[in-house]
Amino acid sequence: MTMSNTMAAEHLQGRLKRRPGIAIVAGSGIMRALAGVTVLAEHPMDGIPGLPLPSVEGHGRSLVECSIAGVDVLIATGRLHLYEGSTLAQVTALVDLFADIGTDSLILTNATGGLATTLGVGDVLLPAEIIDMTFRRSDHASPLRPSPDVPWLLATLERCAGTALPVRSGTYVQVVGPSYETRAEIRMLRALGADAVGMSTAVELKRAVARGMRTLVCSMITNTLTDTSVVSVSHAEVLDAASRATDRMSQVITQAVAARTDLSLRS
Ligand code: HPA
Repeated sequence: MTMSNTMAAEHLQGRLKRRPGIAIVAGSGIMRALAGVTVLAEHPMDGIPGLPLPSVEGHGRSLVECSIAGVDVLIATGRLHLYEGSTLAQVTALVDLFADIGTDSLILTNATGGLATTLGVGDVLLPAEIIDMTFRRSDHASPLRPSPDVPWLLATLERCAGTALPVRSGTYVQVVGPSYETRAEIRMLRALGADAVGMSTAVELKRAVARGMRTLVCSMITNTLTDTSVVSVSHAEVLDAASRATDRMSQVITQAVAARTDLSLRS
């Protein structure tokens, strides 16, 4: 750990009321899905020494302590993106902070564009595989395969099936952005085998796996991508889809947290 990492971890540890079992990174608009949780305490990120701050609209700047499915959870209400001009180290600093305070499980959430024609707005995807198209070199190269944790993913899918909660699995690709994909890029990403595309997560997942954290990715499909035409959707339809997605997203996150407990009890 560097000096500033140690200071950040010590600062946060001195303020946390509980030791979080799971950390969650809330992507664009996802905080709405977590609005119903009981908040124990909120810690502004700008008080944490050396922690870079999110600057994008729709992203918060705090760490929220709360309880989900009886588990103490720490939620980052925003993240940094490569398209903001942040370095890889800045983007992954939150993941490092969670690892440094001893949190061994992480849920990375994001807003995502659906590439697979079977995906619709409001669907929730739990990726089994990721493709990193950011091509950034990490100073912390790890030989570990950076994939979402298979037992955790399967346990979550099983729980969702048991409660008739529709969720899909597939492949998520991270691009740098910030522009949305051209039709040619949509065809290329589909040809590569990607089902959904976003501008975050893969690099954080890599870092989390390298730090030994069990990690799950939870993607909310906010729009679908087509390589033939621009499909116009009414604003009301989008709002309606987003609020339905929010509800589903919060239920999937709750099942994911509970599934992590199931795994701990089994092992
Ligand atoms: N493309 C890339 N990132 C995204 C999209 C998209 O269509 N939707 C939400 N994040």
